[in-house]
Amino acid sequence: LATKILVPAPKIEERKITELLLCGPGPCNIWPSVTEALTKPIVSPICDEYYNAMEDIRLSLNYLFQTKSKLVLAISGSGHSGMETVITNCVAPTETMLIATRGIWDERALNIAQRYNINAIPYRIPLDSTFDFENIETQLKKWRPTALFITHGDSSTGTVQKLEGLGELCHKYGALLIVDTVVSIGGVPFLMDEWGVDAVYASTQKALSGPAGISPVAFSERAQEKINNRKHQPPFYFDVKLLAQQWNCYGNTRAYHHTLSAPMIWALRQCLKEINKRTLPVFWKTHHDVTKHFHKRLQQYGFKFLVPKVEDRLATVTTVVLPRGYDYTTFVRHMRENYNILIFGGLGPTAGKALRIGIMGVNATIEVADAVAEAMAGTLKALTKSSL
Ligand code: GLV
Repeated sequence: LATKILVPAPKIEERKITELLLCGPGPCNIWPSVTEALTKPIVSPICDEYYNAMEDIRLSLNYLFQTKSKLVLAISGSGHSGMETVITNCVAPTETMLIATRGIWDERALNIAQRYNINAIPYRIPLDSTFDFENIETQLKKWRPTALFITHGDSSTGTVQKLEGLGELCHKYGALLIVDTVVSIGGVPFLMDEWGVDAVYASTQKALSGPAGISPVAFSERAQEKINNRKHQPPFYFDVKLLAQQWNCYGNTRAYHHTLSAPMIWALRQCLKEINKRTLPVFWKTHHDVTKHFHKRLQQYGFKFLVPKVEDRLATVTTVVLPRGYDYTTFVRHMRENYNILIFGGLGPTAGKALRIGIMGVNATIEVADAVAEAMAGTLKALTKSSL
């Protein structure tokens, strides 16, 4: 037995982690039932308890995404793993992907696509707006891409993109429609089959109110045809042909691929159970109504929104521009230290230009909206005073 230790063990101190009201663009607080689910026993990745939970998840994802597709499952990893999966499975190296770009996630898609030698073409618009279909059609005609990538809800800008009719438009030009629903799913209406979406990914730490670490994905028949006939190999970890066998998407294939995290499986199943119980239309309406109330309160306190058009504002994440002279980092710190509420500053194109406030999932209540609006008003006042 070797006894010579060259690197001594570090001492890991106990550190207190303060529980906050998480009202940034995510993660948000989690359902109490999800906290409980996370402590369920760890089991082998090849046993009935696991398979039954995966089946519950797949059926509930059919509901969540509103799709009858067989190819629905969840990727081990944060939302980025879902992004990397849909892109690399649907688009081959040297093929063209048009990226409708208005926030940081579209820039991430560009970065990922370029790493796989995909001919990625960004089509950029101002950060506080959304795309109109005429301009998208011009781009589709010009580039004839294999796929169009677009973000539904954008947490960096606080915008929501209209999608109805976009699938049909993409299909007219032979393109697949790939959609990021990380911060919209569950909080904003999304109808995969009805809107002709071909590949979609989501994540758990936003309106689903779970911990980050597992990313639901779904693929249309059209996308499955592309995947089944592809000549290229996506990364092994994200290969949905192999993952479909592990998740038993087509029946009778409980093949081992990698060891899924049991706590994440239990957590995702429980998040979906919370939504199934409430039903999607009710949960969408809750987010709509609570945010409407929150925006009214913010307006009463004199706050200004980053996104000018009401119909472009996202129900789950609000972006607010502070009056001249205020520092965003100081504002966020003051909220945390004085109210125990965590909101975020801008990210990507909104860095240093906006606050980002998320009222979603378990936090989508009038009480939380009021508490955050009042804390923001108090912070505005306190910081004015201190700067006088
Ligand atoms: C993360 O998703 C963020 O919007 O900050």
